[in-house]
Amino acid sequence: MADAPLIALNHITHAYKTPAGPLPVLDDLTITAGEGTFTAVVGPSGCGKSTLTRLVAGLMIPDQGEVMLHGARVKSPRKTVGMAFQNPVLLEWRTILDNILLPLEIVGSKLSKAEQKERVHGLLELVGLTGFADKRPSELSGGMRQRASLCRSIVHKPEVLILDEPFGALDAFTREDLWQTMHDLRRVESFTCMLITHDLREALFLGDQVVVLSGRPATVQYTMEVPLGRDRVLDDLYTPESADNLHILRDQIKIAQGRAA
Ligand SMILES: Nc1ncnc2c1ncn2[C@@H]1O[C@H](COP(=O)(O)OP(=O)(O)OP(=O)(O)O)[C@@H](O)[C@H]1O
Ligand SMILES: [Mg+2]
Repeated sequence: MADAPLIALNHITHAYKTPAGPLPVLDDLTITAGEGTFTAVVGPSGCGKSTLTRLVAGLMIPDQGEVMLHGARVKSPRKTVGMAFQNPVLLEWRTILDNILLPLEIVGSKLSKAEQKERVHGLLELVGLTGFADKRPSELSGGMRQRASLCRSIVHKPEVLILDEPFGALDAFTREDLWQTMHDLRRVESFTCMLITHDLREALFLGDQVVVLSGRPATVQYTMEVPLGRDRVLDDLYTPESADNLHILRDQIKIAQGRAA
């Protein structure tokens, strides 16, 4: 299936089993993402966004519907997925280099030890952390730790990169720097990204498409194809067109939260 979309979530419905009975979280949710694209997913808190990422990674199987990667149904955890979260959880007893090497140790690698280190040094350079390979996580700032976490999430060249609010805890300026870093990484590394975020500007700046989920149980309420090319700069967020698009997204979030006028 050469021309199947890389990620296809087809009519996903899922409920968690809780002591109080089933908790419906996703309802007939369909999202597709082509190879090499960037999908930003926004939606009200608790609507089911992290659940969605667990399904894409194969960490959970949906009650109904199917998750397809390259036209093949996902039935178990995937090695070809990379993940990064709001909390970078780096291991303090390992250096930054050894933290980033971790996925290669876990999923295995055809690269020699020297080649693996070379890859890590190349990634550190790309994200602006040249010279930090031998530091411990506690010697880095929050933004630097998140950069290291991004390196770790792509070191094994995953097909799919899942980012669950990785920039959420950073201050506004650091966050904008990291958005730019994401674009730099995309120019060099080939991954298909699904980003969960609460930040509509972030969704617009990074996404090729922005998917707005409804309140729980979540379904796709609205999809925006972002009319910005790959070579975006922050100023592109301050054009009248971007202002209009942010307005549209904000209105959609209000509808999802049930606060629309
Ligand atoms: N393992 C679980 N068992 C039972 N309920 C769960 C479980 N994981 C999540 N939930 C519930 O499912 C709903 C969706 O959770 P999820 O973490 O996917 O939401 P979210 O959109 O990522 O929220 P946030 O924006 O706050 O990160 C929530 O009501 C949550 O309490
Ligand atoms: Mg979440």
